[in-house]
Amino acid sequence: MPRHLIDWHLLDDATWERLIERSLHHYRATDRWSTVAAKRSIGLLFFNSSLRTRTSMELAAVQLGAHASTLNIGQGTWGFAWEKGGVMDGNEAEHIDEAVAVLSRYYDALGVRVFASLTDREKDRDETLLNTFVDAATVPVINLESAFYHPCQALSDAAAMMTHFGGKVRRRKFVLTWCYHPRALPMAVPNSALLTAARLGMDVTLACPPPYVLDSRILDLAEGYAHQHGAQFSISDDQSAACEGADIVYAKAWSGPAVYAGADEEAAIRAAHRDWRVTRAIMDRTANGRFMHCLPVRRNVVVDDAVLDGPSTIHLLQAEFRLHAQKAILEHIWDLL
Ligand code: CP
Repeated sequence: MPRHLIDWHLLDDATWERLIERSLHHYRATDRWSTVAAKRSIGLLFFNSSLRTRTSMELAAVQLGAHASTLNIGQGTWGFAWEKGGVMDGNEAEHIDEAVAVLSRYYDALGVRVFASLTDREKDRDETLLNTFVDAATVPVINLESAFYHPCQALSDAAAMMTHFGGKVRRRKFVLTWCYHPRALPMAVPNSALLTAARLGMDVTLACPPPYVLDSRILDLAEGYAHQHGAQFSISDDQSAACEGADIVYAKAWSGPAVYAGADEEAAIRAAHRDWRVTRAIMDRTANGRFMHCLPVRRNVVVDDAVLDGPSTIHLLQAEFRLHAQKAILEHIWDLL
């Protein structure tokens, strides 16, 4: 059975803690280059756009001595069909089953980014596309952001907070706040951010308008982690009040379960909450808190310039950790630790 990385909640605490340690190790290393993964290769398949994940994963592999190649699916590749038992008489020339089986014979690991449909709730909740990919693979698969999870971002976020707080994150107040965005976005990052903070033993508040409360599976997992740590977990529909005394304000736009009722309905709900934006006034209510965002971020829509250009952010540290965390992930899936 290959060592896939689908999401952290599927892996034990020892592995999670070891990978945070390894991310910190790579961050502190004076020489970023090694040959620990020499003569290995990874193929990175992107069904959606990326700046950070693509470049940091390529570089992580290369800095460990491995080869990485990236495929932007549909741009210079065949289009892929996903349905089982379908009649492939449309535009898609290749089935995902053959494509992944063939690439498994070339590469020692595969990474895949395949976002939520935002039209089929069960398909997204059950990670149908990611699981179809994983089932066809005979080598380890790294989830580079799926319908529900972004484990590479999650490990980077954990390591960035550990670095910023000198390892002392337990019982610090972490607020994940929904923000307005002109487009309906997936829920992978907020799901993973909430689970990460809870697993670190932080006091977690989810701040969002009621229609944007995350899926019950995520809330149950987060509450379970909070319970294990004797930490608090709460939900608030008041963005500013929720940020009172916060150590971290993690901003993210997402479409929420409402999107599955219909894109127009969700857009109307979203438009009524344009004022959900991280401002200087909100940050002033924190306990000298730090602003986080996975990026890309829309300035003066999700967060004001006054916050993003000020001293209270660690969003670039988060982004930097993508490189270090993904080295740890490659070491894990290839059993190099
Ligand atoms: N945060 C993140 O995954 O960035 P990209 O979408 O640019 O890869």
